[in-house]
Amino acid sequence: MTASALSTDLQIRPFDAPCGAEVIGLDLSRPLAEADFARIHRAHLDHHVLVFRDMAIPPAQQVEFSRRFGPLQRHVLSNFALPGHPEVLVISNIEEGGKPIGLGDAGAYWHSDLSYMPRPSLGSMLHAQELPAEGGDTLFANQHRAWDALPAALKSAVEGRRAEHWYLCKYAELQKRNPWRPELTQAQIDAVPPVAQPVVRTHPEIGRQALFVSEHFTTRVLNMPDDESRALLAELFAHSTRDEFVYRHRWQPGDMVFWDNRSLMHLAGGTPDHLRRRLNRTTIEGDEPF
Ligand code: SIN
Repeated sequence: MTASALSTDLQIRPFDAPCGAEVIGLDLSRPLAEADFARIHRAHLDHHVLVFRDMAIPPAQQVEFSRRFGPLQRHVLSNFALPGHPEVLVISNIEEGGKPIGLGDAGAYWHSDLSYMPRPSLGSMLHAQELPAEGGDTLFANQHRAWDALPAALKSAVEGRRAEHWYLCKYAELQKRNPWRPELTQAQIDAVPPVAQPVVRTHPEIGRQALFVSEHFTTRVLNMPDDESRALLAELFAHSTRDEFVYRHRWQPGDMVFWDNRSLMHLAGGTPDHLRRRLNRTTIEGDEPF
């Protein structure tokens, strides 16, 4: 068996949930065989969220593995990048020397990562570094199922429509709650202008349709009176996160979770203030939604 031969230990075990599978036996300490990579890629498309257990890898290896799926994106809040790793965003509620070491309220509202960019994220990888004894779960909602289950009248109300996504949609509200959130510079604001995205998108690799609006970033449906747009979005937000579409991930030490932002929305379930939580996130650039 050569160093990069097919791993016989690699197992993919689907969860009894609306999305998700566990990956056991992935060894990233040696080059990943093409056949193993192909199995992981296929499982990611089939299950939309993969949980890799016992990943004792440094950030550079997370970056390298993420790059197998496409170019990496850097978050506009570059002050929360891991020192020496501009493509790794630290997600943490920990303060050191009176300063937050990471983005403590990432995922406070349901969203799909970087949907406010012309080319939103294909997927994101989150690697646990320090976990709280309680809380700190991440929830994932399957937007293919949400689309499939949408009542016909709502489907025809949104088909062919576009909505505006804007990074600043909830920024001031979050800043009020969390004063450590930095004032954005003009250059940061200019880097994230509002973009128009389809309300229902087609997954470029599997061809399935998915709802693509979120409480965190969608401001309005275009070419619709404001009150109608608000009412429609409220209905879509409530529908898209119904319990029957949701998998709740309860983190275990060493977990690295890789989800498909073209298929899912996610939400940070919340961590008690007195408990420490720290994870490293990479995001992979996707296509222009259609
Ligand atoms: C995120 O939105 O990427 C963070 C999710 C989490 O912290 O659970």
